[in-house]
Amino acid sequence: MRIDILTLFPDMLTGPLDASIVGRARESGLLEVHVHDIRDWTRDKHNKVDDRPFGGGPGMVMMCQPLHDAVLAVEDKDPRRTHRMLLSPQGRRLTQDHVESLARQERLLLIAGHYEGIDERVIDALEPEEVSIGDYVLSGGELPALVLVDTIARLLPGALGHDDSAAEDSFSITDDDGTPLLDTPHYTRPRVWDNREVPEVLLSGDHGAIATWRREQQRQRTQQRRPDLREDPKD
Ligand SMILES: C[S@@+](CC[C@H](N)C(=O)[O-])C[C@H]1O[C@@H](n2cnc3c(N)ncnc32)[C@H](O)[C@@H]1O
Repeated sequence: MRIDILTLFPDMLTGPLDASIVGRARESGLLEVHVHDIRDWTRDKHNKVDDRPFGGGPGMVMMCQPLHDAVLAVEDKDPRRTHRMLLSPQGRRLTQDHVESLARQERLLLIAGHYEGIDERVIDALEPEEVSIGDYVLSGGELPALVLVDTIARLLPGALGHDDSAAEDSFSITDDDGTPLLDTPHYTRPRVWDNREVPEVLLSGDHGAIATWRREQQRQRTQQRRPDLREDPKD
């Protein structure tokens, strides 16, 4: 899979893309990620990529031309069809279901906005899918783009140690009726820490009893912490 990220702040992305699961997926060739500086496509003699908003108001707005040219040029670098995405607090809120469908794409192009946002006309022209990582506002789309890359990378077959371990995570685990569940609590050595003991069943070696206990924990946690998952499984 190939992911291209278009940004005005490429330095914000380099470290995280080289580390951990994303870094390993890139090294092993499972995932190709390319970061592009939108400023490289400006035709302004002062390298301008943003300007003051028409109608007044605070902040700056990213201009149409550099972003538009950048998208077309980057798309031309590879024959695979791109699915264009814009990180935006006004987009559809990201869910695990959505990430799973994105992980099946051959190629994604992620646009990170900055400042007050992007001139609406270039969004209309490019028609990206708009995605939000939550109901709060960040300074730019770089961290949301990293969130997207990370969530996708760990779903690529072979990216995690065990192929099915992503299926054991919150939201991917489902109850018998298809409701997404939160993960069970986890414990490791020592058996007693700070006078707190590991639940006895996990030390029993009885795999059936352990599976039953874990399923019960998942149900209880989901009920206590995210009852909305049962009410509206797709939200
Ligand atoms: C300061 S924000 C602009 C917010 C915009 N004025 C609004 O109120 O909708 C700058 C950029 O950060 C990114 N961004 C901010 N919050 C985000 C979120 N929750 N999810 C995805 N991207 C976000 C977007 O790319 C956005 O263009």
